[in-house]
Amino acid sequence: MDILPIDEIEGVDIIKGDIRLDTTIEKIRGKIEKADVVICDAAPNLSGSWSYDHARSIDLATSALECARKILKLGGNFAVKVFQGDMFPGFLNKVREYFGKVQAFSPEASGSKALRYM
Ligand SMILES: C[S@@+](CC[C@H](N)C(=O)[O-])C[C@H]1O[C@@H](n2cnc3c(N)ncnc32)[C@H](O)[C@@H]1O
Repeated sequence: MDILPIDEIEGVDIIKGDIRLDTTIEKIRGKIEKADVVICDAAPNLSGSWSYDHARSIDLATSALECARKILKLGGNFAVKVFQGDMFPGFLNKVREYFGKVQAFSPEASGSKALRYM
């Protein structure tokens, strides 16, 4: 799913919607009963202010976490991209409330400021 239109992909159900809205989660739930995995690569349009973009990234990641909580099977997995910043520890603690094993890593290609958390 994406807030912007996505070109059709054979064998893939595509949903256009805002991850921050319950109505979008309901649309996803209309397509599947439960998910094995939720992967979120959503990112805000970059403003040029890292702290602002970081806060908006955390907002999207928090919505993705809420989505994961609602649609994941018991024992399911969640992977999310987050722009690194001072709100990260709070977000990580929130993820730890719901997942038994939580790992953070940053692929080389992401550069020094980006971390991906699983
Ligand atoms: C880095 S791109 C990744 C897109 C896709 N995963 C890819 O690899 O081509 C980030 C995507 O997040 C989407 N996005 C931003 N805010 C969103 C929101 N509130 N709800 C859903 N998608 C959003 C953007 O439209 C953009 O397509």
